[in-house]
Amino acid sequence: MPRERRMKPRILMCPPEHFDVRYVINPWMEGQGERLLRDLALRQWRSLRDAVALHAEIMLIDHAQGWPDMTFTANAGLIRRNKVVLSRFRHPQRQGEEPFFAAWFSEAGFDVVVPPEDMHFEGAGDALLDRREALLWMGYGHRTDVRAADMLENALDIEVEPLRLVDPRFYHLDTCFCPLARGYLLYYPAAFDFASVRRIEARVPADRRIAVSEIDALGFACNAVNLGDSVILNAASESLSRSLAGRGFRTLRVPLGEFMRAGGAAKCLTLRLDEPGKVALRRERQPIAEAA
Ligand code: ARG
Repeated sequence: MPRERRMKPRILMCPPEHFDVRYVINPWMEGQGERLLRDLALRQWRSLRDAVALHAEIMLIDHAQGWPDMTFTANAGLIRRNKVVLSRFRHPQRQGEEPFFAAWFSEAGFDVVVPPEDMHFEGAGDALLDRREALLWMGYGHRTDVRAADMLENALDIEVEPLRLVDPRFYHLDTCFCPLARGYLLYYPAAFDFASVRRIEARVPADRRIAVSEIDALGFACNAVNLGDSVILNAASESLSRSLAGRGFRTLRVPLGEFMRAGGAAKCLTLRLDEPGKVALRRERQPIAEAA
């Protein structure tokens, strides 16, 4: 198929119709309920949608009333090819989202896998596919159980590299770790324990690792949506965006401060639906081999 005719990436988003901060399940949410500006949140979400729509086809799920965090679709489940492993949320405040996402995925034709009842797993918030090799990075320590690694390996037939998260501000893997195109990695090393940092360093060559400062990490720079050469994020310092530019990435800042009050930003508000199968992986691997 000619290049131009390749399908656009597909992304699931949930208009934040019932978004709110009514409970505290991560440190960002503390005291934020009264400060939340719901109109501004809606405007920010629309700006993100418009930015993503330049590079991807957006699919929508309705926001169910009573489940204020449902707008964070990254936590709906984890997709690989035609399979989705549904989330089983740690906190009861989010468990009610599960049936709505399950219904959407079945209707969309996905093969739906449900994790065992006694296992917590928070979807693409804690599990991110590498863009270069057939590898799934999984965060554990706050929300997802370490045991989920075996479950994912079996369900999705892919090697899983578990990483231990140690800073409660970075409670999901996607708040501090973002695999980018061409094998690059945006991450905040201090969010991980020592052994996990070593595992990251063993698998991602130094020239592909982009470690961010604490200030960028706290601006959720790692909570980025990478589509082609664009990196869409809440905020990034000039030095980070220069370092991304040096590697061929264009930084697109979309302020998402109202969602930060709930502990989420760009990546949390999206879920990539066409995660790569073997063909896509092989196609992406080529330039790396040439560069090496
Ligand atoms: N308030 C939500 C929670 O704590 C935010 C989820 C953000 N999502 C993410 N993928 N990091 O669960």
